[in-house]
Amino acid sequence: MSKSPSVPPEVTLRALRSGPLAGVCRVPGDKSVSHRALLFGALCDGAVEIRGLGEGGDNRSTARALEALGVGIRLAGTEAEVRGVGFGGLRAASAALDCGNSGTTIRMMTGLLAGRPFETTLEGDASLTKRPMRRLAEPLRKMGATIEGRADPARPGDVFPPLRVRGGALTGLRYDLPVASAQLKSALVLAGLQATGRTELREPAQSRDHTERMLRHLGAPISADPATNTIVVDPAGWNGQLRAAPLTVPGDLSSATFLIVAALAVPGSDVVVENVGLNPTRTGALDALAAMGADLTIEPTGDAMGEPVGRVRVRARGLRGTRIAGTLALRAIDEVPALAVAAALAEGTTVFADLEELRIKESDRIAALARELGRAGVKVEQRPDGLVIEGLAGREPRGGTVEPEHDHRIAMAGAVLGLASSEDTLVPASEIATSFPSFAETLRALGATLDPV
Ligand code: S3P
Repeated sequence: MSKSPSVPPEVTLRALRSGPLAGVCRVPGDKSVSHRALLFGALCDGAVEIRGLGEGGDNRSTARALEALGVGIRLAGTEAEVRGVGFGGLRAASAALDCGNSGTTIRMMTGLLAGRPFETTLEGDASLTKRPMRRLAEPLRKMGATIEGRADPARPGDVFPPLRVRGGALTGLRYDLPVASAQLKSALVLAGLQATGRTELREPAQSRDHTERMLRHLGAPISADPATNTIVVDPAGWNGQLRAAPLTVPGDLSSATFLIVAALAVPGSDVVVENVGLNPTRTGALDALAAMGADLTIEPTGDAMGEPVGRVRVRARGLRGTRIAGTLALRAIDEVPALAVAAALAEGTTVFADLEELRIKESDRIAALARELGRAGVKVEQRPDGLVIEGLAGREPRGGTVEPEHDHRIAMAGAVLGLASSEDTLVPASEIATSFPSFAETLRALGATLDPV
């Protein structure tokens, strides 16, 4: 496996008001779906070919962790072959698993390893090390695993990476998740597949359902009731193996949203993003932008492993403020940094609410966005669960230097806002490769002034 993304990280980018953006483009494979393709591929009963895999650092972290557990992976750009070994073929790693910046990697791996009869340590970078894991450790302990983590006197009662997982015989669990979280749900599903008895998981609202869709595609004993946000894993009578089948990953709507907002930020733009995932648990940002008056044409083009795929055309148009809360906010959770840029350029006020989870992403995104928009001269109020943004309504954002705080999406939001300014915006950009290594290159090909300095 090659160690670095195909595009060399550009250390600092300079963004500047550009001419209209125009053209047809694609985005890398969906990060969430790529994690699952690698991980579930490893649990199959044979070799699995993956196409369209995300090349970002987070997906590399999952691939490397699986390799450390004895899974053969051949990566060639956006294609991979994973030699599935099933749950029983995983072997104890000889060192701690480095999950890098990736919350999905550490949480899904912890659920997987909770049922394996050996001990594993999972660690990560400075940002991941601050992310809370009690919500994961508690139900996995109830199922029979031993999970220990680092305590932090500033946040008593919680546990933080590094995590030590001593797996073993698990029993099924009936559990109400305290928050809607696809990482937590997926970890518990992976534990449930290894348990004796049924596992029933109920979420307060439906988080992204890629795990359910892909596992069904691979023949796992899982069923979902979207009316009650409940999923059931019942391994009774199952042979314990996923059926090897080719997997195709759609383009990442989370990456596409930055391009869409960039097109909305530059008057006269007309951009098409092709082959992008349109899973309805992920399309809140498109609905929110439509409510803001964006001119979007969404055309479904097919289906990949039960994931709807399509093409999105966006033409620049003045935006107005809106309210993004409840299930709309949940369906746009990773797109809030991009949507905050749209709100900053709109006419009127945009309220973001019910987003307390944003405080524990790769950075405290509420604080980071308030700081970055404030730096650009946007009036913004921080709330415990969101933001109130007063749009610039045709005035120009100020330039300056973005502070991404190890957060790829804060860096990309800063760069996109910079495309609406006639002053220089400098963006420390190395973290962008976490999810979208070709971000700057793709925007430049559409006509954006976004150059390495
Ligand atoms: C992800 C789930 C989301 C999302 C994250 C990726 C996943 O987090 O924010 O970027 O791939 O399962 P939650 O676990 O909070 O839903």
